[in-house]
Amino acid sequence: MRIALSTGGGDAPGLNAVIRAAVLSAINRGWEVVGIKRGFAGLLGEDEVVPLTKDSVRGIAHLGGTILRTTNRGNPFCYPRKQADGSYVEFDRSDELMENARKLGIEAVISIGGDGSLDIANKLCAKGMKIVGVPKTIDNDVSGTVTTFGFDTAVNTALEAIDKLHTTAESHDRVMVMEVMGREAGFIALHSGVAGSADVILIPEIPYDIRRVCDKIMSRDAHGRHFSIVVVAEGAYPKGGSMHTMGESMPGEARRIGGVADQIGREIGRITGKEVRSLVLGHLQRGGQPTGYDRLLATRFGGAAVRAIADGKWGHMVALQTPHIVTVPIVECLQETKRVDTTHDVVQTARATGISFGD
Ligand code: F6P
Repeated sequence: MRIALSTGGGDAPGLNAVIRAAVLSAINRGWEVVGIKRGFAGLLGEDEVVPLTKDSVRGIAHLGGTILRTTNRGNPFCYPRKQADGSYVEFDRSDELMENARKLGIEAVISIGGDGSLDIANKLCAKGMKIVGVPKTIDNDVSGTVTTFGFDTAVNTALEAIDKLHTTAESHDRVMVMEVMGREAGFIALHSGVAGSADVILIPEIPYDIRRVCDKIMSRDAHGRHFSIVVVAEGAYPKGGSMHTMGESMPGEARRIGGVADQIGREIGRITGKEVRSLVLGHLQRGGQPTGYDRLLATRFGGAAVRAIADGKWGHMVALQTPHIVTVPIVECLQETKRVDTTHDVVQTARATGISFGD
Protein backbone atom coordinates (compact mmCIF):
# COMPACT_ATOMS: atom_id res chain seq x y z
CA MET A 1 0.00 0.00 0.00
CA ARG A 2 1.36 3.42 -0.95
CA ILE A 3 -0.37 6.38 0.65
CA ALA A 4 0.19 10.13 0.39
CA LEU A 5 -0.27 12.95 2.88
CA SER A 6 -1.15 16.54 2.07
CA THR A 7 -1.59 19.65 4.25
CA GLY A 8 -3.64 22.49 2.76
CA GLY A 9 -5.04 25.90 3.76
CA GLY A 10 -3.81 28.04 6.64
CA ASP A 11 -1.46 26.16 8.96
CA ALA A 12 -2.48 25.22 12.49
CA PRO A 13 -0.41 23.96 15.42
CA GLY A 14 -0.65 20.18 15.44
CA LEU A 15 -0.19 19.50 11.71
CA ASN A 16 3.20 17.91 12.30
CA ALA A 17 1.79 15.70 15.05
CA VAL A 18 -0.85 14.39 12.58
CA ILE A 19 1.85 13.75 9.98
CA ARG A 20 4.05 11.93 12.47
CA ALA A 21 1.25 9.71 13.79
CA ALA A 22 -0.02 8.87 10.29
CA VAL A 23 3.45 8.11 8.94
CA LEU A 24 4.43 5.89 11.87
CA SER A 25 1.07 4.07 11.92
CA ALA A 26 1.26 3.43 8.17
CA ILE A 27 4.90 2.33 8.13
CA ASN A 28 4.27 0.01 11.07
CA ARG A 29 1.60 -1.68 8.92
CA GLY A 30 4.19 -2.18 6.20
CA TRP A 31 2.84 0.63 4.00
CA GLU A 32 4.87 3.21 2.10
CA VAL A 33 4.19 6.93 2.64
CA VAL A 34 4.89 9.98 0.52
CA GLY A 35 4.26 13.64 1.26
CA ILE A 36 2.72 15.96 -1.32
CA LYS A 37 4.34 19.34 -0.78
CA ARG A 38 2.37 22.62 -0.53
CA GLY A 39 -1.21 21.39 -0.58
CA PHE A 40 -1.64 19.57 -3.88
CA ALA A 41 1.03 21.60 -5.71
CA GLY A 42 3.36 18.59 -5.51
CA LEU A 43 0.96 16.64 -7.72
CA LEU A 44 0.72 19.46 -10.25
CA GLY A 45 4.41 19.73 -11.02
CA GLU A 46 4.63 22.95 -9.01
CA ASP A 47 6.39 21.37 -6.04
CA GLU A 48 7.66 17.97 -4.98
CA VAL A 49 6.33 14.66 -3.76
CA VAL A 50 8.76 13.34 -1.16
CA PRO A 51 9.18 10.01 0.63
CA LEU A 52 8.17 10.12 4.30
CA THR A 53 10.08 7.72 6.53
CA LYS A 54 10.38 7.22 10.26
CA ASP A 55 13.42 9.51 10.08
CA SER A 56 11.49 12.29 8.32
CA VAL A 57 9.02 12.53 11.22
CA ARG A 58 11.45 12.17 14.09
CA GLY A 59 11.12 14.97 16.69
CA ILE A 60 8.41 16.99 14.92
CA ALA A 61 5.28 16.45 17.05
CA HIS A 62 5.97 19.52 19.20
CA LEU A 63 6.69 21.84 16.28
CA GLY A 64 4.18 24.32 14.84
CA GLY A 65 3.75 24.70 11.07
CA THR A 66 3.93 21.76 8.68
CA ILE A 67 6.98 19.98 7.31
CA LEU A 68 4.97 19.50 4.08
CA ARG A 69 4.34 23.25 3.75
CA THR A 70 0.93 24.54 2.73
CA THR A 71 -0.97 27.08 0.65
CA ASN A 72 -4.38 28.65 0.68
CA ARG A 73 -4.27 29.20 -3.09
CA GLY A 74 -3.95 25.64 -4.31
CA ASN A 75 -7.43 24.48 -5.26
CA PRO A 76 -6.80 22.05 -8.19
CA PHE A 77 -10.33 22.68 -9.48
CA CYS A 78 -9.63 26.39 -9.96
CA TYR A 79 -5.86 26.70 -9.92
CA PRO A 80 -4.64 30.25 -10.61
CA ARG A 81 -2.04 30.62 -13.38
CA LYS A 82 -0.32 33.88 -14.25
CA GLN A 83 -0.79 35.03 -17.83
CA ALA A 84 1.73 36.92 -19.98
CA ASP A 85 -0.07 40.22 -19.27
CA GLY A 86 0.25 39.67 -15.49
CA SER A 87 -3.41 38.75 -14.96
CA TYR A 88 -4.47 35.40 -13.51
CA VAL A 89 -6.81 32.83 -15.02
CA GLU A 90 -8.12 29.86 -13.05
CA PHE A 91 -7.88 26.37 -14.59
CA ASP A 92 -9.38 23.04 -13.58
CA ARG A 93 -6.25 20.88 -13.13
CA SER A 94 -7.92 18.03 -11.27
CA ASP A 95 -7.53 15.52 -14.16
CA GLU A 96 -3.80 16.26 -14.28
CA LEU A 97 -3.61 15.76 -10.52
CA MET A 98 -5.44 12.40 -10.71
CA GLU A 99 -3.15 11.23 -13.50
CA ASN A 100 0.01 12.25 -11.62
CA ALA A 101 -1.20 10.48 -8.47
CA ARG A 102 -1.81 7.34 -10.56
CA LYS A 103 1.65 7.55 -12.16
CA LEU A 104 3.24 7.81 -8.71
CA GLY A 105 1.38 4.70 -7.57
CA ILE A 106 -0.51 6.62 -4.87
CA GLU A 107 -3.37 4.38 -3.77
CA ALA A 108 -4.90 6.56 -1.06
CA VAL A 109 -4.52 10.09 0.26
CA ILE A 110 -4.89 11.66 3.71
CA SER A 111 -5.85 15.29 3.20
CA ILE A 112 -5.35 17.43 6.30
CA GLY A 113 -7.15 20.75 6.05
CA GLY A 114 -10.05 23.04 6.90
CA ASP A 115 -13.37 23.41 5.10
CA GLY A 116 -11.70 24.51 1.83
CA SER A 117 -9.35 21.50 1.75
CA LEU A 118 -12.14 19.14 2.81
CA ASP A 119 -14.26 20.42 -0.06
CA ILE A 120 -11.38 19.70 -2.46
CA ALA A 121 -10.99 16.23 -0.90
CA ASN A 122 -14.68 15.56 -1.40
CA LYS A 123 -14.51 16.56 -5.07
CA LEU A 124 -11.38 14.45 -5.66
CA CYS A 125 -13.16 11.53 -4.02
CA ALA A 126 -16.05 12.00 -6.49
CA LYS A 127 -13.45 11.72 -9.29
CA GLY A 128 -12.30 8.38 -7.89
CA MET A 129 -9.47 9.30 -5.56
CA LYS A 130 -9.42 7.19 -2.39
CA ILE A 131 -9.23 9.95 0.15
CA VAL A 132 -9.69 10.42 3.90
CA GLY A 133 -9.85 13.85 5.54
CA VAL A 134 -8.43 15.17 8.79
CA PRO A 135 -10.10 18.40 9.99
CA LYS A 136 -7.70 21.20 10.85
CA THR A 137 -8.24 24.83 11.75
CA ILE A 138 -7.56 27.20 14.58
CA ASP A 139 -11.05 28.62 13.93
CA ASN A 140 -12.85 25.44 15.12
CA ASP A 141 -15.49 26.01 12.45
CA VAL A 142 -15.67 22.50 10.92
CA SER A 143 -18.97 20.71 11.56
CA GLY A 144 -19.06 17.04 12.55
CA THR A 145 -16.24 17.25 15.08
CA VAL A 146 -16.40 18.61 18.62
CA THR A 147 -13.17 20.48 17.96
CA THR A 148 -10.27 20.71 15.54
CA PHE A 149 -6.61 20.64 16.52
CA GLY A 150 -4.97 24.06 16.55
CA PHE A 151 -7.93 25.69 18.25
CA ASP A 152 -6.75 25.05 21.80
CA THR A 153 -3.30 26.43 21.02
CA ALA A 154 -4.80 29.56 19.42
CA VAL A 155 -7.07 30.09 22.45
CA ASN A 156 -4.08 29.78 24.78
CA THR A 157 -2.09 32.28 22.72
CA ALA A 158 -5.01 34.73 22.84
CA LEU A 159 -5.44 34.10 26.56
CA GLU A 160 -1.81 34.92 27.27
CA ALA A 161 -2.24 38.17 25.34
CA ILE A 162 -5.41 39.07 27.31
CA ASP A 163 -3.58 38.47 30.60
CA LYS A 164 -0.81 40.81 29.47
CA LEU A 165 -3.25 43.45 28.27
CA HIS A 166 -5.03 43.48 31.64
CA THR A 167 -2.02 44.81 33.52
CA THR A 168 -1.19 47.59 31.07
CA ALA A 169 -4.88 48.53 30.60
CA GLU A 170 -5.37 48.85 34.34
CA SER A 171 -2.19 50.86 34.83
CA HIS A 172 -3.31 53.43 32.24
CA ASP A 173 -7.10 53.38 32.77
CA ARG A 174 -7.40 52.40 29.13
CA VAL A 175 -9.74 50.36 26.98
CA MET A 176 -7.85 47.68 25.06
CA VAL A 177 -9.53 46.20 22.00
CA MET A 178 -7.94 42.96 20.85
CA GLU A 179 -8.87 41.30 17.55
CA VAL A 180 -8.52 37.56 17.20
CA MET A 181 -8.97 35.25 14.20
CA GLY A 182 -11.89 32.95 13.43
CA ARG A 183 -13.32 34.00 10.07
CA GLU A 184 -17.12 33.74 10.38
CA ALA A 185 -17.02 31.96 13.72
CA GLY A 186 -16.43 33.50 17.15
CA PHE A 187 -14.99 30.50 18.99
CA ILE A 188 -11.49 31.88 19.61
CA ALA A 189 -12.88 35.20 20.88
CA LEU A 190 -15.51 33.51 23.04
CA HIS A 191 -13.26 30.92 24.65
CA SER A 192 -10.26 33.18 25.21
CA GLY A 193 -12.48 36.06 26.33
CA VAL A 194 -14.39 34.00 28.89
CA ALA A 195 -11.25 32.24 30.17
CA GLY A 196 -9.41 35.58 30.27
CA SER A 197 -12.22 37.52 32.07
CA ALA A 198 -12.76 39.98 29.25
CA ASP A 199 -15.41 42.65 29.79
CA VAL A 200 -16.82 42.66 26.27
CA ILE A 201 -16.70 39.87 23.66
CA LEU A 202 -17.86 40.60 20.13
CA ILE A 203 -18.51 37.66 17.81
CA PRO A 204 -20.09 37.34 14.34
CA GLU A 205 -22.91 35.21 15.73
CA ILE A 206 -24.14 38.17 17.85
CA PRO A 207 -24.06 41.43 15.86
CA TYR A 208 -23.20 44.28 18.21
CA ASP A 209 -24.52 47.75 18.93
CA ILE A 210 -21.55 50.01 19.72
CA ARG A 211 -23.66 51.99 22.22
CA ARG A 212 -24.24 48.79 24.26
CA VAL A 213 -20.46 48.17 24.21
CA CYS A 214 -19.86 51.70 25.50
CA ASP A 215 -22.60 51.33 28.16
CA LYS A 216 -20.69 48.39 29.58
CA ILE A 217 -17.41 50.30 29.60
CA MET A 218 -18.99 53.37 31.25
CA SER A 219 -20.80 51.24 33.83
CA ARG A 220 -17.45 49.73 34.82
CA ASP A 221 -16.03 53.24 35.02
CA ALA A 222 -18.86 54.29 37.33
CA HIS A 223 -17.96 51.38 39.61
CA GLY A 224 -14.32 52.40 39.80
CA ARG A 225 -13.06 49.99 37.13
CA HIS A 226 -11.47 52.50 34.81
CA PHE A 227 -10.11 50.00 32.31
CA SER A 228 -11.82 47.47 30.07
CA ILE A 229 -10.78 44.57 27.86
CA VAL A 230 -12.72 44.06 24.64
CA VAL A 231 -12.03 40.85 22.71
CA VAL A 232 -13.35 41.01 19.17
CA ALA A 233 -13.51 38.24 16.59
CA GLU A 234 -12.22 39.38 13.19
CA GLY A 235 -15.63 38.53 11.71
CA ALA A 236 -17.68 40.58 14.23
CA TYR A 237 -19.91 43.21 12.72
CA PRO A 238 -22.47 45.77 13.92
CA LYS A 239 -26.22 45.21 13.75
CA GLY A 240 -27.31 46.03 10.22
CA GLY A 241 -23.66 46.14 9.07
CA SER A 242 -21.27 43.69 7.44
CA MET A 243 -17.91 42.05 8.06
CA HIS A 244 -14.76 44.10 7.70
CA THR A 245 -12.44 42.91 4.94
CA MET A 246 -8.79 43.84 4.49
CA GLY A 247 -6.79 44.65 1.39
CA GLU A 248 -6.79 42.72 -1.86
CA SER A 249 -7.00 38.94 -1.87
CA MET A 250 -4.47 37.07 -4.02
CA PRO A 251 -5.83 35.09 -6.98
CA GLY A 252 -7.39 31.85 -5.75
CA GLU A 253 -7.52 33.08 -2.15
CA ALA A 254 -10.66 33.58 -0.02
CA ARG A 255 -11.50 37.17 0.96
CA ARG A 256 -9.42 38.40 3.88
CA ILE A 257 -11.51 39.22 6.94
CA GLY A 258 -10.26 41.58 9.66
CA GLY A 259 -9.29 45.07 10.71
CA VAL A 260 -12.45 45.60 12.75
CA ALA A 261 -10.67 46.27 16.08
CA ASP A 262 -9.29 49.59 14.91
CA GLN A 263 -12.73 50.79 13.84
CA ILE A 264 -14.35 49.63 17.09
CA GLY A 265 -11.56 51.23 19.12
CA ARG A 266 -12.05 54.59 17.40
CA GLU A 267 -15.82 54.47 17.97
CA ILE A 268 -15.39 53.59 21.66
CA GLY A 269 -12.94 56.49 22.08
CA ARG A 270 -15.31 58.93 20.39
CA ILE A 271 -18.38 57.86 22.36
CA THR A 272 -16.84 57.35 25.83
CA GLY A 273 -14.02 59.90 25.70
CA LYS A 274 -11.74 57.22 27.14
CA GLU A 275 -8.24 56.45 25.98
CA VAL A 276 -8.35 53.38 23.73
CA ARG A 277 -5.69 51.19 22.13
CA SER A 278 -6.37 48.40 19.68
CA LEU A 279 -4.31 45.50 18.38
CA VAL A 280 -4.65 42.62 15.98
CA LEU A 281 -3.19 39.43 17.41
CA GLY A 282 -2.95 38.01 13.88
CA HIS A 283 -0.80 35.10 12.84
CA LEU A 284 0.75 34.66 16.28
CA GLN A 285 -2.35 32.53 16.84
CA ARG A 286 -1.28 30.13 14.11
CA GLY A 287 2.29 29.71 15.30
CA GLY A 288 4.17 28.11 18.15
CA GLN A 289 4.14 24.73 19.78
CA PRO A 290 0.81 22.94 19.89
CA THR A 291 -0.59 22.55 23.40
CA GLY A 292 -0.71 19.10 24.96
CA TYR A 293 -4.42 18.91 24.10
CA ASP A 294 -3.80 19.70 20.42
CA ARG A 295 -0.80 17.40 20.20
CA LEU A 296 -2.80 14.50 21.57
CA LEU A 297 -5.86 15.24 19.39
CA ALA A 298 -3.67 15.60 16.29
CA THR A 299 -1.89 12.34 17.08
CA ARG A 300 -5.22 10.56 17.58
CA PHE A 301 -6.47 11.99 14.25
CA GLY A 302 -3.31 10.82 12.43
CA GLY A 303 -3.64 7.28 13.78
CA ALA A 304 -7.38 7.20 13.08
CA ALA A 305 -6.88 8.41 9.49
CA VAL A 306 -4.65 5.40 8.78
CA ARG A 307 -7.25 3.07 10.32
CA ALA A 308 -9.90 4.77 8.15
CA ILE A 309 -7.82 3.97 5.06
CA ALA A 310 -7.45 0.34 6.17
CA ASP A 311 -11.24 0.25 6.55
CA GLY A 312 -11.83 1.86 3.13
CA LYS A 313 -13.68 4.88 4.56
CA TRP A 314 -13.28 6.91 1.37
CA GLY A 315 -14.76 10.39 1.49
CA HIS A 316 -14.91 10.34 5.28
CA MET A 317 -13.04 12.52 7.73
CA VAL A 318 -11.91 11.60 11.19
CA ALA A 319 -13.67 13.55 13.92
CA LEU A 320 -13.81 13.91 17.67
CA GLN A 321 -17.16 12.94 19.08
CA THR A 322 -16.14 12.90 22.71
CA PRO A 323 -14.81 10.60 24.04
CA HIS A 324 -14.23 8.78 20.74
CA ILE A 325 -12.60 9.44 17.41
CA VAL A 326 -15.08 8.47 14.71
CA THR A 327 -15.36 8.89 10.94
CA VAL A 328 -18.07 11.01 9.30
CA PRO A 329 -18.83 11.57 5.61
CA ILE A 330 -17.08 14.79 4.54
CA VAL A 331 -20.14 15.81 2.54
CA GLU A 332 -22.20 15.97 5.76
CA CYS A 333 -19.61 18.17 7.46
CA LEU A 334 -19.55 20.57 4.53
CA GLN A 335 -23.27 21.27 4.71
CA GLU A 336 -22.77 24.11 7.14
CA THR A 337 -19.92 25.96 8.78
CA LYS A 338 -19.90 25.37 12.53
CA ARG A 339 -20.63 28.58 14.41
CA VAL A 340 -21.06 29.51 18.06
CA ASP A 341 -24.40 28.36 19.46
CA THR A 342 -25.59 31.52 21.17
CA THR A 343 -27.60 29.47 23.68
CA HIS A 344 -24.54 27.41 24.69
CA ASP A 345 -23.59 27.29 28.37
CA VAL A 346 -20.35 29.20 27.68
CA VAL A 347 -22.39 32.13 26.33
CA GLN A 348 -24.90 31.85 29.18
CA THR A 349 -22.16 31.82 31.79
CA ALA A 350 -20.40 34.72 30.10
CA ARG A 351 -23.59 36.77 30.33
CA ALA A 352 -24.26 35.62 33.90
CA THR A 353 -20.80 36.77 34.98
CA GLY A 354 -21.32 40.22 33.49
CA ILE A 355 -19.61 39.91 30.11
CA SER A 356 -21.29 42.03 27.44
CA PHE A 357 -21.75 40.81 23.87
CA GLY A 358 -22.70 44.32 22.82
CA ASP A 359 -26.31 43.27 22.18
O1 F6P B 1 -8.78 29.95 8.78
C1 F6P B 1 -7.68 30.21 9.57
C2 F6P B 1 -7.32 31.65 9.49
O2 F6P B 1 -6.21 31.81 10.34
C3 F6P B 1 -8.45 32.63 9.78
O3 F6P B 1 -8.73 32.72 11.15
C4 F6P B 1 -7.93 33.88 9.14
O4 F6P B 1 -8.96 34.74 8.73
C5 F6P B 1 -7.23 33.36 7.93
O5 F6P B 1 -6.89 32.02 8.19
C6 F6P B 1 -6.00 34.13 7.58
O6 F6P B 1 -5.38 33.47 6.53
P1 F6P B 1 -4.08 33.97 5.75
O7 F6P B 1 -3.58 35.22 6.38
O8 F6P B 1 -3.13 32.83 5.84
O9 F6P B 1 -4.55 34.20 4.35
